Amino acid sequence: MGVLQTAKGIRVITTIGEIKEVITKVKRQGKTIGFVPTMGYLHEGHLTLMRKAAAKTDFVVASIFVNPLQFGVGEDFEEYPRDLERDVRLAESAGVSLIFAPGVAEMYPDGYGTTVEVTRLTDRLCGRSRPGHFRGVTTVVTKLFNIIEPDIAFFGQKDAQQAVVLRKMAADLNMNLEIEIVPIVREPDGLAMSSRNKYLDPEERKAALVLSKALLLAKNLINSGARNTADLKREVTGFIGREPKARIDYVDILSFPGLEEIENVSGQVIIALAVFIGDTRLIDNVVLEVD
Ligand code: PAF
Repeated sequence: MGVLQTAKGIRVITTIGEIKEVITKVKRQGKTIGFVPTMGYLHEGHLTLMRKAAAKTDFVVASIFVNPLQFGVGEDFEEYPRDLERDVRLAESAGVSLIFAPGVAEMYPDGYGTTVEVTRLTDRLCGRSRPGHFRGVTTVVTKLFNIIEPDIAFFGQKDAQQAVVLRKMAADLNMNLEIEIVPIVREPDGLAMSSRNKYLDPEERKAALVLSKALLLAKNLINSGARNTADLKREVTGFIGREPKARIDYVDILSFPGLEEIENVSGQVIIALAVFIGDTRLIDNVVLEVD
């Protein structure tokens, strides 16, 4: 089945052939296309991207595809939360005109053999802990860009390294589109929104606040004059280490968007964290401009 339709009229297309036909028609009408790629299980962070896309472009496409290529062995590809019906309702309310929800065989048919890889920027932070992850992301996003042909694609700052890597890919490969990065959306208590927050039990949900609190601690230390990266990392690591349910994957402070190691913070920097709370790996970051 290639096309589904909700009562209100939003279409869910599952085949590349059909979505390309719609895109050709939309382009012929002279409309600009906004694109929000997602893996579904939408939350307020995704809906913010969609609303932004609806405000800036004439026709918004969202993709919902849990991309096996970006999950490592033993990661949560099988368990990743999925609820297409709910996603369609939410996307529609956020101004999306069309959903592309292909199956794995549609995106990677038998014999599929091409990947896209950005070097250097992908060998640190999440790239170090999740080898091959960014190759999966850049491959699927290239395919999605070629299918949807958007004028503007929208990504969240929560996946800061992903955003930097995708901008580099688009620039290096002369892709004919703009990439807009939208600020992190947080729960009222500070937890960055993520589909993986669903995995947290009530005790873990409380413990997960250690990420945003650790970033706040770093920010306050920098505002009070701390500049040495090693000292700052030590403070942040110690703070997270006092939360019994937390296990640090990485705490890093790098230049932004270059993602270079720095001895002292100055100019634009990112403080980036990946922390397991129980079995759930959460990431968060803050970008600061330091005098
Ligand atoms: O950020 C995500 O949800 C995914 O990495 C993306 C960009 C949809 C590619 O699968």
